[in-house]
Amino acid sequence: MEIELREPASPPEWDLYYDLRWRVLRERWTQVRETGRDEHESNAFHLTAWIEGKLAGTGRLHFNSRDEAQVRFMAVEEIYARQGIGSRILDALEAHAREHHARRIVLNARESAVDFYRAHGYRLVDQSATLFDSIVHWRMQKDLQR
Ligand SMILES: CC(C)(COP(=O)(O)OP(=O)(O)OC[C@H]1O[C@@H](n2cnc3c(N)ncnc32)[C@H](O)[C@@H]1OP(=O)(O)O)[C@@H](O)C(=O)NCCC(=O)NCCS
Repeated sequence: MEIELREPASPPEWDLYYDLRWRVLRERWTQVRETGRDEHESNAFHLTAWIEGKLAGTGRLHFNSRDEAQVRFMAVEEIYARQGIGSRILDALEAHAREHHARRIVLNARESAVDFYRAHGYRLVDQSATLFDSIVHWRMQKDLQR
């Protein structure tokens, strides 16, 4: 299975990107489209994974400070889950963070994704905010080797 990883390249691709993010991460909990975006969209690194021309997954990286990058909006279409796509996206986001001299990556993982991030070297730091009053999130962190 060939996975193509790249930034969205056209307005329709941006629409697909935001749509997948929202469907996988938000739709079950809210009907408000706007909650799927945050204040970092314009200066974040946005990544999409394509399989035979179909969007299969997304991920995003932004910087909180010079040293600290944050991963958000990791989302893989359910029919493509557990096929290594999330791992490829996360690896590419980490590579981008390293290239831009980040010393660590942080993220807020929902409980169901903690094992995925643990498998990628992230450790639990703290329990973080509960989203939509129901999804418990865990602050996780990975220190990057220089
Ligand atoms: C979490 C998510 C991004 C993982 O993407 P994926 O493409 O399914 O993950 P991969 O196939 O690359 O998984 C790599 C490894 O991570 C671990 N892993 C992945 N999903 C897991 C899960 N739900 N439970 C336990 N381990 C998991 C496994 O070790 C897996 O390797 P294996 O399949 O050989 O056992 C994806 O399942 C998803 O979008 N989930 C819903 C949205 C979400 O929770 N996003 C994260 C928000 S914090």
